[in-house]
Amino acid sequence: MSSLADKADRHALYEQAVQCVEAEIDMVDASFEAIRGYAAQTLREDFCGTAQTSIEWIQRRPDNVAIGVDLDGEVLAWSNDNHLDHLMLEERGRIELLQEDVRALEIEPVQMVMAMNFSYQLFDTRQTLRDYFTSVRQGLSDDGVFFLDAFGGYDCYKEIEETTACEGFDYIWDQASYNPIDSGMQCYIHFTFPDGSRLDKAFSYYWRMWTLPELQELLEEAGFENVTVYWEGTDEESGEGDGIYTPATLGDADPAWVCYLSAEI
Ligand SMILES: C[S@@+](CC[C@H](N)C(=O)[O-])C[C@H]1O[C@@H](n2cnc3c(N)ncnc32)[C@H](O)[C@@H]1O
Repeated sequence: MSSLADKADRHALYEQAVQCVEAEIDMVDASFEAIRGYAAQTLREDFCGTAQTSIEWIQRRPDNVAIGVDLDGEVLAWSNDNHLDHLMLEERGRIELLQEDVRALEIEPVQMVMAMNFSYQLFDTRQTLRDYFTSVRQGLSDDGVFFLDAFGGYDCYKEIEETTACEGFDYIWDQASYNPIDSGMQCYIHFTFPDGSRLDKAFSYYWRMWTLPELQELLEEAGFENVTVYWEGTDEESGEGDGIYTPATLGDADPAWVCYLSAEI
């Protein structure tokens, strides 16, 4: 008899465990409007994977348009079968998925580029990350804004596993190794199931742990202006993050934090 792990779909599990696209779109939509004074229409989602964020974007407003970009044809095919094929015809016309390197795109400029889930950390030298940021800048329209996320805190340099209970499975974030000499981190995502089965190394990433000053400097070196960090507020009762990110120049020395950055043309 096959186990729950055998029957599991790693992309569906990833979407359920890792992403909260509604909150991310809320954040970038409101921030673009705060910066420019009007709402954006065109979004490019870099490293889009299953392109959930692009789909959330086109469903927000009837004139929103999204382009999702990923190198991996398998994940794009999954998105086509599981998401795009179920959209209304009109919505389907406002989203496009491209199997391309995010650095080599030749498409019409867009108002917003999003690089979320820390995926740009696969660019592990100042040169390669600056080149990526430069290509993003070239792909933005005159009113364009680039949004990316970042994580850090002293826990991110530890070789630890963190387990989160989800509906029907556990999600394990595994920081398997960290090399302080080049700041390279090997991480995995595993999933475990109530029948004891396990989907080991469902996703694997080798990332350079960039710091916020490095990211801000490289964005500026790539020609961006008004580089802004959005830090999470604290819920007074629980002492935990309240999910509200506002522009900040002073953060807290949290053991583990996630924040957003915007960078303007
Ligand atoms: C951390 S995953 C992001 C997953 C995605 N945000 C999602 O929700 O499914 C990183 C993704 O980046 C893609 N990728 C890696 N290098 C790339 C590149 N140079 N250009 C485009 N996509 C790339 C991988 O194929 C992978 O799907």
